[in-house]
Parts: sequence; structure tokens; C-alpha cells
Amino acid sequence: MKSSSPLAQPAWQALTRHAATLPQANLRDLFAQDPERAPRMTLQAAGLTLDYSRQRISPEILQCLLALAEQCDVAGQRDAMFAGQAINATEQRAVLHPALRASPGNDTPWGADVGAAVQHELARVCDFAERVRSSAVQGHTGVTISDVVNIGIGGSDLGPRMAAAALDHLAGNAVRVHYASNPDPWAIYRILRDLDPARTLFVVSSKTFTTQETLTLAATARRWLSDNGCPEDQIAGHFAAITASPEQALAQGYRPDQTFLFWDWVGGRYSVWSALGLPLAIAIGAQHFRAFLAGAHAMDQHFRHAPLAENLPVLMALSGIWNRNFLHAPTQLLTPYASRLAYFPSFIQQMDMESNGKQTHVDGSPCLIETGPIVWGGLGIDGQHAYFQLLHQGKHLVPVDFIGVRHDDTPLPLAQDHHRVVTANLIAQTRALGFGRDHDETLAELLAAGLAPSEAARLAPHRTFPGNVPSHVVWLDRLDPASLGALIALYEHKVFTQAAIWGIHAFDQWGVELGKKAVREVYPLLDGAAIPQTLDPATRETLRALRQA
Ligand code: F6P
Repeated sequence: MKSSSPLAQPAWQALTRHAATLPQANLRDLFAQDPERAPRMTLQAAGLTLDYSRQRISPEILQCLLALAEQCDVAGQRDAMFAGQAINATEQRAVLHPALRASPGNDTPWGADVGAAVQHELARVCDFAERVRSSAVQGHTGVTISDVVNIGIGGSDLGPRMAAAALDHLAGNAVRVHYASNPDPWAIYRILRDLDPARTLFVVSSKTFTTQETLTLAATARRWLSDNGCPEDQIAGHFAAITASPEQALAQGYRPDQTFLFWDWVGGRYSVWSALGLPLAIAIGAQHFRAFLAGAHAMDQHFRHAPLAENLPVLMALSGIWNRNFLHAPTQLLTPYASRLAYFPSFIQQMDMESNGKQTHVDGSPCLIETGPIVWGGLGIDGQHAYFQLLHQGKHLVPVDFIGVRHDDTPLPLAQDHHRVVTANLIAQTRALGFGRDHDETLAELLAAGLAPSEAARLAPHRTFPGNVPSHVVWLDRLDPASLGALIALYEHKVFTQAAIWGIHAFDQWGVELGKKAVREVYPLLDGAAIPQTLDPATRETLRALRQA
């Protein structure tokens, strides 16, 4: 069986030579050699603009990277996904989250049955969301719903939570939506203490409907309703269930008319487009939710049909491969310059690290190459006052994805002044990180500032910036449903493309299984059960000390 490792690909060999022999492509030199570099490496698609000109990639390296994508059959693997082939081979499932956001009708390679099922469930979700928003759904005392609490974790939390925050300006205050993911008691207590049980609807979101954290939170929700006067036969009315395992939900007493489905070919971290988007649809309304889907669909069409050399997800993926496998950067920083995108780094962290945090090729052989980077991040401006020091003068190479929003419509008198500060900081950081300030320039600046030559010479080494840090800038014209949808799909397809080149499975997550198994073994022991001698000594000591406390 052909090895799925890219190591033997001629393009990988060429890239290895480039990385070992040619001087590391220096950004100052690359721009000096080609005045057209910036406009040539700034592309638009699906309403987004990608500027990848500050990647340390020469024209020769870019050609090798594109050849690598060809030799790894990225296009063929992409088409297999869209055609509904069971590319999630270890779970024997298709991967069809693009089907969730496709407009019905033509150009749907996954077939009419999938499309019809998607449209049917989407209509149910949108209808219920509008009924909640328009006071057509009441609690057990006949009053309307004022608060919705989504109970879910991972992909059953991060997507709707992130998107609702990003589109906060579209969320009227008719219904407030809250997110409970962590079973720590304070997390749910802090939410419930401010809510009216008679006016609260719980949305229990879980693909498997067996996740202990989620079921623990749902039990507290039921107890809270019961303790606050909700009759037992009315409790189910205060719940909606969203799952790919409806039999589990129905067996636990959830009402069929308030149980919404998605399918096993939707990965949790790719599920915000599915019924799991219900909390988002309640927050922003059905129309904006459909626009969100349409934005992602536009990026799907671009990914499917644009040539690799003009394909935004492919180009982002290839830059990431160069940074990860040839410049050996272990992490990838994601830093939005828009406060409403505060949850976006965490959302992409799950998408990327749960997809590409793998060490085995699809053929079962161990990876001898690096695979998924550590994805981390936070809001850019705050980061400049926290960890950007290391990016500028530390000993790590940290590629940066900046996300910027060109126009801001915040209804504040001085909003445009604020927005100019934010935008100026984003641009300034791309400059400082990309091009730095070398020793001679620093010395000259210190002398020009009036420092004595001896003092300037003493300080210059401490105030020099090497620069040459690779970055992308992704620009949204506005932070609206369509651009957010396109942005998420851009990253989804980037992650897919990197997995296709690394030859790893992106859509399973066996790495979380051992932890879940260990919880099942430890949990009973916290209730005083006898500690088996077969348990490892470290855990035995931990449990002993806990009991003693
Ligand atoms: O982290 C493992 C995982 O299975 C994620 O992929 C998923 O989003 C999350 O747990 C929650 O799973 P479920 O939606 O089945 O409760």
C-alpha cells in the first residue's frame, strides 16, 4: 500500500533542499526583489481578503508547495470528501459538513437524499428558533421564554458560543442565550442564580448524548426547575435536545417535537452549521443564521473550484506546512483585532488540534514528519500588552494569523476613532514582526533620540528586533453572518488540506477516548469504593490523600 507519508514526494524533497541550502527567505529581501509581491499575494474570495505576502515563501518555494499539493492529490481528496466518500476511515463515516450549508438544488455531489434531510431539519430548527424569539414558546406557567441556556461542550459549545459573540450586534435582547459547558458547579450556578426558572429553556447539545459533563449539567438543570416549582410532567417542555443520537434523548424523556437532529457524518468541531446552531439561530434569528450558512457555502464553492494557486484555504495550508515542517515552528498564533471574535481562537484551537493532532498516517505507519501545530491565541490588542514581547524578541518562531475587520458600525459617537486605533495597531504589528529593526537602525534611532554614543551602544542589542516573522492577514469587510461563515469555512478547508498533505486522518478523535475511559474508572472511587491494587501507584496515592483530606 502506498505510504501516506509525503516524505517521498519529489516536492517534499525539493522543499527540504530549499530549507537546508538556500538562506532562509528573508521578508525584506523578498519584497525588495519583487515590488509586485504584495498585490500578487493578496487574494479575495467569498468576501474575504487573504494577504499571505508576509509569509517567508519565495516564488520557487511557492511552486514547490503547490507541486506538493498536486503530488498529494489534495484536489482528489477534496472531491472525495464532497462526494460523500467515507474518508473518516477509522469511524467509517462520510464527512459532509459542507452539505449542511449548501443551497438546495444543483452542484451538490452528495446526492439529493442528504440535501433533503438537511433542508428538512434546518427548517425545523429555524422555525423553533423564531417561535422562541417571538414568544410562541412558553414555560410551565404560561410566560414567554426570556433566557436560553445551551448545555454542551467542545463542538457542542464552542461553535454557537463563538458565533453568537461574533454576531452580538445582531442579537436582540428578546431572548438572552447563555452557554454552560464545564461541569464545575460554580459555572452553572453563576448562570442559574440570575435566571427565572419559569422563563428558562435549556438546549442540551450532544452528538452522542453520552458525554458525562453534559449529562451532569442537564441533571442540575432538571433539578433546578423541579426545586423551583416546575411540575414533573412540565419539565420536558423546558428542554430542547440536539443530537445525532435521538434514541438516547428520547429515552431520557426529551420531547420529539423539541429534539433536533444531525448526522454521524458531521464531526463535532464541524457542527455549528447543523441543528447545533440552534442557540445561535435563537440569538440572531433564522434569516441571519441562513446568511451565515450561505457565507460558508460561498467559501466551499471557492475551495472546490478555484485553481490551487488561487485557492485561499490551500494557500493558507501550504504556508502553514512551510512554517511547520520546514521552518519547524511548533505553534500557530491566531489573533483577531475585533473584540467580538474573542472566542474565535478557542474555536479554531479545537478544530485544528482535534483534527490534526495526530501521529499516525492513514496507512497505519507512524508519522516521521511534524503534523498539527499548537494553535493558541487571543485578541490582538490585549496580546500586545501580554505576550507579543516574546514574538518580537523571544527565541521562538511563531507564525501569526491576524484577523482584521475593515469597517466597524458600532453605534458610538467616537467609534471610528476607536476603530482607527485598532486597525493602526494591526498594521503596525505586521510591519514590526515582518521587518523588524536591525542593530544599525536601532543605534541610529537611539543616537537621533539624543542618547550618548556609549549609552546607545549599550542599549542597542537589547532594543533590536530581528523581524522576519511570517504572518497572514485575513480581512473581513464587515463582521456579518456571511463573512463569519466564510472565515470559519476557510479554516475548515485549510485544516483539511494540511491533513491531506500530511496523510493523516482529520475527522476522528481517538485521543480523547483514553481520558473518557479513565474518568469512568476513577469516578466510582471518589465515592469511597475500594481502591483496587491494580490501579497505578500514583493514582492510588492521589485518591488516598484526597480521602484523608
Ligand atoms: O472532545 C471530544 C468530543 O467528542 C468532541 O469532538 C465533541 O465536540 C465533544 O467531545 C462533545 O461531544 P458530544 O457532542 O457527543 O457531547
